[in-house]
Amino acid sequence: MSMSTTPTGSPGSTATGAADTDPASGPAPLPAIPAPAGADPEVPRYAPQWLQLREPADAAARAHDLLDPLRIRLANRPGRPRDLVVHDLGCGTGSMGRWLAPRLDGAQHWVLHDRDPYLLHFATVGAPRAAADGSRVTVTTQRGDIGRLTPDALAGASLVTASALLDVLTPDEIDTLAEACVGAGCPALLTLSVVGRVELTPADPMDAEIGEAFNTHQRRGDLLGPDAINAACEAFGRLGATVRVNPSAWRLGAQESELAAEWLRGWVGAAVEQRPELAERADTYLQRRLAACAAGELRVVVHHMDLLALPRPAGGAS
Ligand SMILES: C[S@@+](CC[C@H](N)C(=O)[O-])C[C@H]1O[C@@H](n2cnc3c(N)ncnc32)[C@H](O)[C@@H]1O
Repeated sequence: MSMSTTPTGSPGSTATGAADTDPASGPAPLPAIPAPAGADPEVPRYAPQWLQLREPADAAARAHDLLDPLRIRLANRPGRPRDLVVHDLGCGTGSMGRWLAPRLDGAQHWVLHDRDPYLLHFATVGAPRAAADGSRVTVTTQRGDIGRLTPDALAGASLVTASALLDVLTPDEIDTLAEACVGAGCPALLTLSVVGRVELTPADPMDAEIGEAFNTHQRRGDLLGPDAINAACEAFGRLGATVRVNPSAWRLGAQESELAAEWLRGWVGAAVEQRPELAERADTYLQRRLAACAAGELRVVVHHMDLLALPRPAGGAS
């Protein structure tokens, strides 16, 4: 059997068209997505099926403890009671909005940013409609590169969000993001960044070797991978923002075996892409792990962190 390759930064972030899995051992391979006109073939793309598969686990993992300080900040923002304007960066199919919009009071306008127009289409179709208090929620989309975000682009923003994004960014992109948020005086809720730690139960002698190769793969080129959360804390802290982080681990058991299997394929595939000499042993390892997963005998904890950054409000922020 050939294994899926994962040319992406986020663990289990199965990139489109790269999943080459054996249908006999798990979910059907993810179909290839047509590349948008002018798309850079080197830029990883994300299958909407993967993002949809992980959405319930993401929702269960998110750090609720960060919501109260965020609500307090939003309730005290200058310009209230104007509608909340939320910019969701790297929105994918829009799972962050579906989770957060119904947890915040008041009318909201979400600006969904991604460089992939195919995902923006899914995000629009599945956009949330109502806030916690029943107020309306509207969305627009913006195709573009987060690496070029400016404080001007966030003028009037009440909140910036991102989910499963930081670890696929470079240090420069994180600095740009922090500078744009702090420059606009806008709080940022940046969730589900991998921290490079996974626990599989029962343990297997090859877990650590695969995990290390995977983490190295995540740091390929300029990407921060598991170092992203620290880099983001430092970037916001340097700029004078108050930063809080809370854990937001995925806890996958028998009920989440489909997600765990797809995550395993991506995790092992990326490790082998990083260290091709592992291929034969890793294939046997993957078969073992997938069999345990199918039997409901494998538990996986994938550690993540959520970050809330509260810069000083700028005069113009609403
Ligand atoms: C792992 S996915 C997460 C998607 C979504 N936030 C979620 O939690 O389901 C990362 C997303 O960020 C987008 N992305 C990554 N780097 C980007 C960049 N530099 N500019 C714009 N979008 C980017 C990808 O297209 C993808 O939709």
